[in-house]
Order: sequence, then C-alpha cells, then structure tokens
Amino acid sequence: MFATKLQRLGYRHLCKPFFFHRDPEWTHDTVCTVGEYLGRYKTTRAFARKMCAYEHSCLQQTLLGIFFPNPIGLTEGFDKNARLTRILPDVGFGYEMIGSVTAEPCEGNAKPRLWRLPKSRALVVYYGLKNDGADEIHHRLEKERFHIPVGVSIAKTNGPQTVEMSAGIQDYKKGFTTMLDIGHFFVINISCPNAFGGEPFSDPVRLDALLTELDTVETKKPLLLKIAADLSFEELDRLIAVMDNHRVHGMILANLTKKYDRPEIVQTELQSFMKGGISGRPTSELSNSLIAHAYLEVGDRYLIIGAGGIFTAEDAYEKICQGASLVQLATGMIFEGPQLIGELNKGLAELMQRDGFKHIQEAVGSAHKKQYA
Ligand SMILES: Cc1cc2nc3c(=O)[nH]c(=O)nc-3n(C[C@H](O)[C@H](O)[C@H](O)COP(=O)(O)O)c2cc1C
Repeated sequence: MFATKLQRLGYRHLCKPFFFHRDPEWTHDTVCTVGEYLGRYKTTRAFARKMCAYEHSCLQQTLLGIFFPNPIGLTEGFDKNARLTRILPDVGFGYEMIGSVTAEPCEGNAKPRLWRLPKSRALVVYYGLKNDGADEIHHRLEKERFHIPVGVSIAKTNGPQTVEMSAGIQDYKKGFTTMLDIGHFFVINISCPNAFGGEPFSDPVRLDALLTELDTVETKKPLLLKIAADLSFEELDRLIAVMDNHRVHGMILANLTKKYDRPEIVQTELQSFMKGGISGRPTSELSNSLIAHAYLEVGDRYLIIGAGGIFTAEDAYEKICQGASLVQLATGMIFEGPQLIGELNKGLAELMQRDGFKHIQEAVGSAHKKQYA
C-alpha cells in the first residue's frame, strides 16, 4: 500500500509533469517503447508486478470460455502495434486489447493528432487508425505466449479505397482473417470517429452486410462490436437487432465522443485546431447510460464491456453495476499512472465487500436488480 502511494506521488510529481510538457504523441510512443523494453526481462516484469498488480479471487471470471484474472483491461488505441503484450500482465491488467489493427498498414491522419485537455480529464484523438497493419502485427505476435487474454480489434483501413461498401467489408474481412490465429477474441471496430468516410457500419443495413460476410469466416473465437458513444438508445437497439442474426457475442460500450459540448468539457481548453473524438471524463456518462440500456435489453445474452472515463475504482464499479462484466481504460492510466490498475482492482474488491458481493458476477447489473427488488 505504501509502495502504491509512493508510486502515485512519483507519477503525479515527476513522470506526469515531464510527460505532460511534451508532445502527447511523442509521449505515447516513448511510453510504448519503454514498456516494450521493460517487458523483455524477468526482473523488470517482476518489479512491475510488485509495484502495480493486485490479485483477488473475487475478481476472477470465465466469460465466453476465457479466463480473466480481473475485469480491468487496456482499451483499444493504446497498444496499437502490440508492443506491450509482455509487460501488461505484470502491470496488473486482466486482459488487453491490441489495435485497432487494419488490413493494410496505416499512417493515420496528418499530425498533430493528439491533444490533452487536463482540466476536462480528457484527450482529443485524431490518430485515424495509425498502425503497422495486420501482416506485420501478426508476424510480431505469432510466436508469443500470452499471459492474459488478448482481444484483437479490427478496423477498416483508413483511406478512400475502403469507402465503397463492398471494398470496406472485404477490408474488414482481410484484417480479421489475417489475425485469426492471434489472441482470444475479436472486436470489430465500427465506430472510429476519425476515419475517411465516417462510420458507415454503424448503419444497421451496412452492419448486417458486414456481419453476413464475417459469419463466413470459420472460427471458434468470440466476436464483439465496438459501438459509438454518441448513439441514441433507439440506434443501439437497431444494432442489437442486427447482432441477434449473426455470430456476435458482445459489445464494447463505448468509443470516443464527438460531442464537444459535453458538460464535462471545460470549453476554454478546446482550441479551433483540435479535431477528432474525445476520450476520458466526457465519455463516462455516455458509456454508463448505454451500458445500462443494453443490459436491460439483453441481460447476459451478450457480454458487455464498459469503456469511457474510468479514473477511480468507483468509476469502474459503476459500469459493472450498470451491467458491464469487464471494463477497460486508457485515459485514466495516462492521467493517473500505471499503479492505477492495481488500485482499481483493490478498490473494486473493497467496494464489492462493502456491498456484500462475494464475487464480481453478483455485482454485474446489480444497479437494476436493486431497483426492482
Ligand atoms: C489515444 C487513443 C487512441 C484510441 N484509438 C482507438 C482505436 O484505435 N480503436 C478503438 O476502438 N478505440 C480507440 N480509442 C478509444 C478507446 O478505446 C476508448 O474507447 C475511449 O478512449 C474511452 O476510454 P478512456 O476514457 O478510458 O480512454 C482510442 C483512445 C485514445 C485515448
């Protein structure tokens, strides 16, 4: 506990000021390079585990046939090129998302394309799916043995060549089939707010066509959808109706928001040159209400993963009580440091004990059960 406090202070007063005075993308790349290096050696991995990780049997779950040591995952977009798979288990994560990976290598949008909004506890993200592409990432991972579940997020290559619907579908399929033997489950990202041509597969007819094609790919691995944060409940219901006709096992709620007028955003932090989706605190309520709505609609028929604005154990717990079996984050860790992952897990175990839950699955959706008790 003392070590965690010390680490929190160290991050807040040493690392964060250093990082937050540098270009956000440079910082992101540097952290990935350092993380990859630390993951290579037993001693650095053991040190990371001692400093960050927290384990408790009440947090372990088997979902869709996959064992998750705890419910806290690294969300899509942090480990874009799968360089952190060795260190993340020792940072204390219960699973990791890699990508989003696209069929073809993707340089992403023109720089600058990442900005911090410290007072709003948010980032403005305009990466445009920068990644090394499915072939290279597959090559990087094909011999890896993973120590926590790895989900592979697949997106459509960002460019004019994938805008036409059938070209877009074939591109998703190529990325999916190339990565098929990597990891434990797949997420089809239909909600990147920063790609050429928008988010065409958030439309139910197009989504139906996409999933019809993906159904033809033989695999036993579960498949989830990453959903946009700004959907109305009716729009989400229409997507769920499409999912019901296909091989889909769950959904991640949700991606970045494009609503620049969210009340959580300190407007003076926004500059006219910033563009893209917003992460962190401004996505929290959007995600929570989508989770609650989806859970009431589908119960445990689909696995729900909650993403958006997790900075504290209370934030993660809220998503779980609203119906998420797993949660994931990036912005919270950027603002608070890697020790946050252990703090979240420890805090969750304490909150569950406070509320009389012996196991995390008793807490999932409990906000609604209480309501009707
Ligand atoms: C720098 C950055 C890059 C992201 N890239 C992706 C991505 O490639 N694919 C994706 O599905 N979501 C991406 N996201 C969205 C996150 O996965 C997540 O849904 C969102 O940031 C909310 O979580 P957070 O508030 O914990 O960051 C990205 C987010 C950030 C901050």
